[in-house]
Order: sequence, then C-alpha cells, then structure tokens
Amino acid sequence: MPQTLSVIKADVGGFVGHSAMHPDVLGEAAESLERAVQSGLLLDAQAHACGDDVFLVMSHERGENDESVHQLAWDTFVAGTEVARRLHLYGAGQDLLVDAFSGNIRGAGPGSAELELEERPSEPVLVFMGDKTSAGAFNLPLYKMFADPFNTAGLVISESLHEGFSFEVHDVREHRKIVFAAPAEIYDLLAFIGSPARYAVKRIASRATGEIAAVSSTDKLSEIAGRYVGKDDPTAIVRCQGAFPAVGEALEPFTTAWTVEGFMRGSHYGPWMPTSLAEAHPSRFDGPPRLVALGYQLAEGKLVGPRDMFDDPSFDNVRREANDIADYLRKHGPFEPHRLPLDEMEYTTMPAVAAKLADRWAPL
Ligand code: F6R
Ligand code: MG
Ligand code: MG
Repeated sequence: MPQTLSVIKADVGGFVGHSAMHPDVLGEAAESLERAVQSGLLLDAQAHACGDDVFLVMSHERGENDESVHQLAWDTFVAGTEVARRLHLYGAGQDLLVDAFSGNIRGAGPGSAELELEERPSEPVLVFMGDKTSAGAFNLPLYKMFADPFNTAGLVISESLHEGFSFEVHDVREHRKIVFAAPAEIYDLLAFIGSPARYAVKRIASRATGEIAAVSSTDKLSEIAGRYVGKDDPTAIVRCQGAFPAVGEALEPFTTAWTVEGFMRGSHYGPWMPTSLAEAHPSRFDGPPRLVALGYQLAEGKLVGPRDMFDDPSFDNVRREANDIADYLRKHGPFEPHRLPLDEMEYTTMPAVAAKLADRWAPL
C-alpha cells in the first residue's frame, strides 16, 4: 500500500506581529492532528512552526488530494484561527482565502506539498519549512541537490543516481506544466527555473526508477487572491539516501545564503538563512527569510523524529553570511535591488500607492 506524506501549511496569525507562532495555536493544531491519528484517518502527524506559519506534517494511505485529509487541514487552520482571534494575534486567519471550503486545499490559500511513496526498509526524508519567502525559492537548492555534481557527489559516483532526475516545472501565472530531463536538458530547465517568481519546480522523480524524489509547494497567494495578502512561505519534502541524494547532499545547498524574495512586506530581496527551530523567528526587518529542515525516518508511516537538521555548527558560516548580506542589502533602503523590481511590486501593496498618484503625472 503506497503511503503519502502531506505537508500543508498556513499563516493563521502571528506572535508578535509576523515574527513567530504562539504556542497555543501550535498546541491546538497538534491536538487536532492527534484526534485524526486516533480516528485512523492518519498514520501519524505532527505540527511545527517556522516564523508565523504552522506546517502540518501528515502521513497516511489516502493518496494526494484526498478530500478528508485536506478537510482536516482546513479545519485545523480554522481552529488555530479561532485561538489566534481569542489572543488577538496578528493577521488571524490571514491565509484562509475562501469562506466555504470545497474539498481541496489548493486554491484556498494554504500551501501544500504531497509525496506518494512505497516505503523502503529505511526511509529518510527531510521536510523543509520556509518563512518570509515565496513559492519558487526552492528552485535553486533543488537544482543543486538533483542536478549539480559539484553539490551532489552521488550524481557522478553512485550508479543509482547516475541516470539523473526529471524536473516537473509549473508556470504559476499561466497554470501549465512541463517536464525536463536532467542532465540532458539542464540548459532548457535553467532557462525557466532561473525566474522563480514565475516558474517553480513542483516535483522531481528518479529517471532510473520513476520514484518521486521531491515535491515543493508552488501555491501563490497573490495568484489566488489577485492581490497581495502575504508571502507564500513554501515547504518541500525530499527523500534521501539510496537512489536519492544523501541527507548531507540534500542539506549542502543551504551552505550559501541564497537571495530570495520576501523579507519586509514581501517586497524585498534578502538572504535565506537556515536555522534550528529555536532560531526560526524572523524579527529583523521581518526577516531575514528563514528555513528549517526537519529530518525523519519513516517506520510503517510513523514519523520517527524530527531531528532539527540545521541545529549544527557547520551551518554557522551561512548564518553569518546571511547577516552580512542582510546588512549590505538593508543599506539600499527603498532602492532596487533590495526592493523588488517594479513588475514584481505589482503583487504587493504598491499598486494602491501608484493608483492614488495616477492623475498627478503629466506628459513630458
Ligand atoms: C512579510 C510579512 C510582513 C508584513 C509587514 C506588514 O511576509 O508578512 O513583513 O508584510 O509586517 O504587515 P501589515 O501590512 O500586516 O501591517
Ligand atoms: Mg503573517
Ligand atoms: Mg509567514
């Protein structure tokens, strides 16, 4: 029986401002998931937070896009919103964009990544949780994990990785998808995923076995709402070892503080800082953007873990690098390239300011 690992996440209210999640909201989510495990809907589940977002990590046998699992996630976010409202937390219910939930979380506001797998005798997986950044932020690190031999030694020296991986890429504006084979088509692949605001890597599969290796959330809040309502704060699931990158190869891309969009008001480029759970509370200029990696061994669907993978001094240098980059970019204030370029600002609160001044412009 194939298992499914579903990670569904939302911002249902921040503590304080947009910096973190209140323990009562996380507790409410954990209780809701525990009831679903007791009832047999889920094999196992946990709730975790990165910044002001709650991530539901759920293991089950119901496949992707299962109505009951999505309904459970939605109800859990609604319950969390009620706690957030009671405590007057900031932006309560901010990512719940529809009034009546219609059976699938996609298009309703929360982000999701779901991965179907036949559990191996030992099944190590990583669940990544991002805050203050966007869908598409995983493009570069996923490329390095699955297509760059300077990152992943196994692509060269392990027979099981040597055939490469296929990348399913979504065009988040035009709502279409395409699949590229790596390494044969990496130049074509890079032509698109180098623009992560529009093209996002959704799924990666082994070319040797067809097994799904990784999935990321590509839900764009601005595309759903038609205006800026907050950042997407993406998640990704990566299977490791054997026919997939080793755990250390999947973490290695995060030794560089990649520039991602997000940060203050979702309108700035900033460095993506990998941290432990304890340090995943972005407060400086509502950032810098954060990333947490939860490591699990699956055991007949049970989530053995998590190990807090970036809680490791070997990531101290990238955290220092992120702080140096943040210092440098912040000096630009409202100027590009710290602030997003104008066409990207279309998906922020900027159009309202521009509209107000529209009739003040005179022809030259
Ligand atoms: C970034 C983010 C914050 C808010 C900012 C203003 O993703 O959520 O930076 O954009 O704190 O928030 P509001 O407009 O709610 O006062
Ligand atoms: Mg928020
Ligand atoms: Mg957030």
